[in-house]
Amino acid sequence: MKVLVIGANGQVGQQVVNMLHEHDKHTVRAMVRKQEQWEAFQKKGIESVLADLEGTVDEIAEAAKGCDAIVFSAGSGGHTGADKTLLVDLDGAVKAMEAAEKVGIKRFVMVSSFQAHNRENWPENLKPYYVAKHYADRMLMNSRLNYTIIRPGYLRSEKGTGLVTAAENLHGGSISREDVARTIVHSLDEPNTYKKAFDLMSGDTEIAEALKSL
Ligand SMILES: NC(=O)c1ccc[n+]([C@@H]2O[C@H](COP(=O)([O-])OP(=O)(O)OC[C@H]3O[C@@H](n4cnc5c(N)ncnc54)[C@H](OP(=O)(O)O)[C@@H]3O)[C@@H](O)[C@H]2O)c1
Repeated sequence: MKVLVIGANGQVGQQVVNMLHEHDKHTVRAMVRKQEQWEAFQKKGIESVLADLEGTVDEIAEAAKGCDAIVFSAGSGGHTGADKTLLVDLDGAVKAMEAAEKVGIKRFVMVSSFQAHNRENWPENLKPYYVAKHYADRMLMNSRLNYTIIRPGYLRSEKGTGLVTAAENLHGGSISREDVARTIVHSLDEPNTYKKAFDLMSGDTEIAEALKSL
């Protein structure tokens, strides 16, 4: 499978790109929004493409052409305001879905956020972010795409353990970005994750097994 990673320069995105680059079944194309990021991937021998989620659907579609799947791991980040949350986390995600449909890509793996499907569990200070994640996920579930929506808990930058808990509803917790990246890669061709959405935390089950028992 050839996979377009959107948000490829991000902390999760970079790990997904590296894992896919070394994978024996998949290949990768990294979508970034800055020339220097494009060059950095090219230097590592990784195919990269320049496109911005604030640009047009056609630009994203052009970037995605020839791929079989999209991983969406972009995010406006905590340092920007609610305007960018709308433009990137919500509209950018929906544009990526429209782009996928436009070029005939069926598989779409979304990095959402813990409990984005349950309004009553959204932290007060993160409500605009959760609104964006919630409606992007709903658009994806209502699309014709073969989706997997991964809703990780608080992201840590430490090394992963390869052990997780995945279920439709989990209580609060956290997970390493490395284990989120591994879960994304495992999900790509795991049929038991097709058309499913789940919370993800660090836990005590091997990722492949956790996904098979969703
Ligand atoms: N932080 C948490 O605890 C937490 C918890 C649950 C879920 N999540 C979600 O997990 C995902 C990955 O998180 P992360 O830590 O890897 O985030 P990150 O390091 O901030 O990476 C986000 C990436 O999105 C890219 N991006 C932002 N605006 C863009 C645009 N207009 N066009 C194209 N790309 C754009 C950024 O590009 P630049 O590199 O150019 O800035 C960056 O590379 C995000 O969707 C986040 O919302 C986070």
